[in-house]
Parts: sequence; structure tokens; C-alpha cells
Amino acid sequence: MSFMQIKDLCVHYPIRGGFFNRVVDHVYAVDGVNMEFEKGKTYGLVGESGSGKSTTGKAIIGLEKITSGSIIYEGENVTNQRRERTSAYNRDIQMIFQDSHSSMNPRKRIKDIIAEPIRNFLKLSDQEENRRINELLAIVGMPEDAKYKYPHEFSGGQKQRIGIARAVACNPKMIIADEPVSALDLSVQAQVLNFMKDIQQEYGLSYLFISHDLGVVKHMCDHISIMYKGRFVETGRREDVYKNPQHIYTQRLLSAIPNIEPSTRIARKAERQGVEAIYQTEQHKYYDENGKVYALKQLSSTHSVAMSTQDKGGN
Ligand SMILES: Nc1ncnc2c1ncn2[C@@H]1O[C@H](COP(=O)(O)OP(=O)(O)O)[C@@H](O)[C@H]1O
Ligand SMILES: [Mg+2]
Repeated sequence: MSFMQIKDLCVHYPIRGGFFNRVVDHVYAVDGVNMEFEKGKTYGLVGESGSGKSTTGKAIIGLEKITSGSIIYEGENVTNQRRERTSAYNRDIQMIFQDSHSSMNPRKRIKDIIAEPIRNFLKLSDQEENRRINELLAIVGMPEDAKYKYPHEFSGGQKQRIGIARAVACNPKMIIADEPVSALDLSVQAQVLNFMKDIQQEYGLSYLFISHDLGVVKHMCDHISIMYKGRFVETGRREDVYKNPQHIYTQRLLSAIPNIEPSTRIARKAERQGVEAIYQTEQHKYYDENGKVYALKQLSSTHSVAMSTQDKGGN
């Protein structure tokens, strides 16, 4: 059972121009997106830069204005509650960013950074707050004296841990993680991902995990949606998407994952060329005459793909 549903989410930005600075067009950053989040599970949102992933995450949490659509949280329509600082929704859904540095006030000590949501939502005594901060630092594997330091005194990986400590401070239900490891070295990436998995298991957390890299989300996600120009081209369980990708865009992203195994390199090169050939000749199956992504069609109870209906089944 999902605890949260996103229905037909749209975020359209007006483009102004001309003599009267009128609205001449729109950027369809998010254009009719549906999602369901389950307790303790990770939902991967993947697509190249500019496809609308961050806008989706920010719209869900209330940092971006929704043009249309709705957000249902535990059976309640919270679409217009997302900006109320003290609402349960705001407490339960937290976000971490690729560049945690820019979301931290450089003049604040770590203890005050981690305490932000606590002061917003929990109203603890100084002593209780101090105890909770120590506990949170222990959870993310940081020494207690970190709390008297400033953000610049920490490495990228450590800052991500501090960002996670702040995000989990009030026992959230879900964390929206927007490219949480993209700025980190490969070795540190694995550490942070493993750590995110650990705290997920321990606290039954759900993640909306945003990434441009299908390789990164592969081991994290239960369900994956592939986004292109504000729409989903494919959505399914991890096995559906990795073992049986149906949309050419998904296949292209998969064939672009760098492979470490030298023995498969030649086969992968041939696969990549095959995908490119299909992309050149059969685009009409995947995009309409305006280059727009088709509506999703259900292939199974868990797997949907955006394809022209004309090419399904018939020929
Ligand atoms: N405030 C804004 N005004 C106008 N266009 C925007 C704004 N924010 C994002 N966009 C556009 O919306 C699209 C999606 O952006 P974004 O969600 O950041 O993509 P992603 O996170 O997948 O890289 C892009 O074309 C981007 O240029
Ligand atoms: Mg982004």
C-alpha cells in the first residue's frame, strides 16, 4: 500500500517576451507525472539534465509552485499545505541536495544546522535537543565534537552525512534525495549509498532518489521512472526497467552505463550501436511528430511505457 500519491503533476514556467513582455510560451518542466510511494521503498527518478527531475522533487516538497495536479498524503489532499512550515507533511517529507553545502548556512555551527527542523517541529528543551543532536551525529557516523564546527571544515561525503542527519532529525517518512552522491568521488559515493540503505532499513524510510545515472540507482531502487522532457517514458519495477527496457530512451541510457568488465566491452559496443540504429530509424514509435513523448501504456501491473499505439500488437 502506498502512503503517498502524486497525480497528474504539472509545473509549467511561463516564458515572457516581445514588446509587451507577455507570456509567449511555457517550459513544460513537469508535464503530467504520476507516482506512488511505499513505506520503506526507494523510488528512482532518472533522466538526463533538464528532464524535470529536480522540479518534480521541489514541487512535491513545496519549493516549486504546482501548475496543476495533486498530492495525496496518507489519504489527505495536501497539495496546498506544502508551504506551511509546521504542517505534518512538512515534518514527514524532507529533502537532501546534491550540493549540501549550499543548503547550509556557512556561518552556522553544525549543531544549529542539524537542529533547524527540531526547532521547527519538536520544541525540545536545550538539554533534550543536545541529546538528540548527539544521537543524530552517532547515527550518521560523525564524532560528537563535529557539532561545534562549521560546514567548510568537512569533506563532501561528511557534509552529505550532516545533511542526512538534519533530514532525519524529526523521524521523517520520506526523504527526497536529489543527486545526493553526484558531487562525490566514486569511493565515497558507495559509502554514502550504503549508509542511506542502512538507515532506510533501520527506520523504514522511503526515498525518492533522483539521479541522471541509471548505474547509480540500480542497486538502490525498487521502482524506477525514466523522465524525458517533463514526462515519463517508462516506469516499472527495477527488474522491468533493467531486464526488459521497452522505450528507446531507456535503452539508450542503459547502453550508456560505463562497464567495468573488459570481457563484455565488445558486446556492449555492439549493443550500443544496435540501440542507436533503432533510434535513428524508429523514432516515430517513441515520439510523435512534434517530438513529444506519448502517453504511458500499461504492459503489466507494474510496467508501463510511452509508445505509439499504432505499433503495438498490430504489425
Ligand atoms: N525557474 C525556472 N524558470 C524557467 N524554467 C525553469 C526553471 N527551473 C527549471 N526550469 C527548466 O525546467 C526544465 C527542467 O529543469 P530541472 O527540473 O532542473 O531538470 P533536471 O533536474 O532533470 O536537470 C529545464 O528545461 C529547466 O531549464
Ligand atoms: Mg536536477
